[in-house]
Amino acid sequence: MLARIAIVTAPGIGKIAIEELVFKKIPYADAITLPLKTQEVTLFNIKNEHIKNLFSLRTVEDIFIILFEGVDIKKKKDLIRLIQNNLKDNILSKLTYLPAKKKKTTTNFWVFVKQDNDRFVHRGDISDIISNYISKYFKKWIKREPADVELWAFYAKQKVTLGIRLTKISFRQRKYKEIERSGSLRPTLASALILLSNPKPDDYFIDPMCGVGTILIERSFWGPTTFIGGGDIDERAVEIAKDNTKSINTHIMIDCWDSTIFSALKDHHGKVNKIVTNIPFGKKFGEKKELKLLYTKALNCWYKVLSTEGEIFLLTSQNKIIESVLKEIAMNYKKIHSFSVQGIYSTVYKIIK
Ligand SMILES: C[S@@+](CC[C@H](N)C(=O)[O-])C[C@H]1O[C@@H](n2cnc3c(N)ncnc32)[C@H](O)[C@@H]1O
Repeated sequence: MLARIAIVTAPGIGKIAIEELVFKKIPYADAITLPLKTQEVTLFNIKNEHIKNLFSLRTVEDIFIILFEGVDIKKKKDLIRLIQNNLKDNILSKLTYLPAKKKKTTTNFWVFVKQDNDRFVHRGDISDIISNYISKYFKKWIKREPADVELWAFYAKQKVTLGIRLTKISFRQRKYKEIERSGSLRPTLASALILLSNPKPDDYFIDPMCGVGTILIERSFWGPTTFIGGGDIDERAVEIAKDNTKSINTHIMIDCWDSTIFSALKDHHGKVNKIVTNIPFGKKFGEKKELKLLYTKALNCWYKVLSTEGEIFLLTSQNKIIESVLKEIAMNYKKIHSFSVQGIYSTVYKIIK
């Protein structure tokens, strides 16, 4: 039997999540992606027996089983369409996809609405009509958070798609990341970057500006490598990165280093075939002149360390600065993808030696 699934990702990541399905050999069909204000939702069909495999996806924030899709809601009077077609039985049948509750307690529910733009029909009206319906037909359920049953309405292009969330918050917040640090990359985005780098068993993989180690740790979940290691100039970041790697089975080497200086990386010289990193960007890390100098020093050093045909994958929102540096030092590069990092569109650059 086929199920219709929705996955929610950061904007720009939907396509990569589909590539992750291919990479993990999870068959799917009829995929479409819809934009939301701060996220993206991608819908596809999948055989029931493959649903469990979706929980291995690392580029995805949340997974939903779909109740209905693409109901036109242009005016308030259209709202009635959301509670037709025996929604009660539909909900009951989809509850079987949720994990069984450990204790028999009252069921709490909540209705969330995520939209692409502000619309004539207010999202509060969408959540009210669905909530009122549930209170009427599921008399023992209580509208209260935290909810055991979360219904999410995706209101994009004036159409509503309704699903039940199958994932818990722990799905996207990795257990290894106990301490946050500003500028740290979301694990789902770190995994997207790794998929774009085409992970292979002969990867000698380095993140030279690793912060708290998110990219390095995510790489350890994408199959074998010959080496994973990295470092940061900030002692506190290195301390947190070392702590974060403790719970990981793969050995990850972390150093405190200035990775723009060749002597810091000399042990890896000629061995590294993949450098994947997100470099400092924005005012927080200095003015444009300083960034340009940092990028120039870093790229020259990393390029020197790289083996023949090695590759560098750089994530940055500073397109102008990085492109001017790449042109000045005459490196071959391609822009391979763009996605949103904390609301700022950032580009992945692939540099080939
Ligand atoms: C955007 S953050 C990387 C965040 C990281 N991906 C994470 O998830 O935590 C950039 C990092 O580069 C580090 N950095 C800046 N200059 C450096 C240098 N010369 N050598 C090594 N690390 C440096 C900063 O300390 C910062 O942690």
